[in-house]
Amino acid sequence: MALTVNGMQVAVPTDPRVSLLDLLRERLDLTGTKKGCNQGACGACTVLLDGERVLSCLTLAVQADGRSVTTIEGLVVEGAMHPLQQAFVEHDGFQCGYCTPGQICSAVAMVEEWRRGLPSNVTGDLASTQIELTHDELRERMSGNLCRCGAHNGIVDAIVATYVTEGAR
Ligand code: FES
Ligand code: FES
Repeated sequence: MALTVNGMQVAVPTDPRVSLLDLLRERLDLTGTKKGCNQGACGACTVLLDGERVLSCLTLAVQADGRSVTTIEGLVVEGAMHPLQQAFVEHDGFQCGYCTPGQICSAVAMVEEWRRGLPSNVTGDLASTQIELTHDELRERMSGNLCRCGAHNGIVDAIVATYVTEGAR
């Protein structure tokens, strides 16, 4: 049994109780993914599983068997920061930085959900496939990722700058 982590094949732990978060941090030294609450409440541990955002603290490593995991380290392309990482720097999207990897992984998947026309809890027209990514939409879709430093405005600005055209703001 094996999974792929940032393009590398990794054996699934023999102990089925190991969470994906602990596999990443404790066994693979991929410490970019953070352990905040370890109970699904903060979003700090968010990674991409086959492109979908998941809470790695609530995901067993064995559940990722045969699947592809991307962590914050895997978003770097040829040594260069992902455009959203760069935007977080430019828009003061963090203070302590502890929530930041989860925020960025979550936003990368969130934008794909939005592009696929998936509604959120605040979407007015559920039949629409052209949902505008307003600030209310964006904040709702990112509401599973908490920032204790209060950098939410910078986080929203970074996501908007990266993915939302001027005309759609
Ligand atoms: Fe996973 Fe908080 S550490 S949601
Ligand atoms: Fe500190 Fe978000 S930057 S918790």
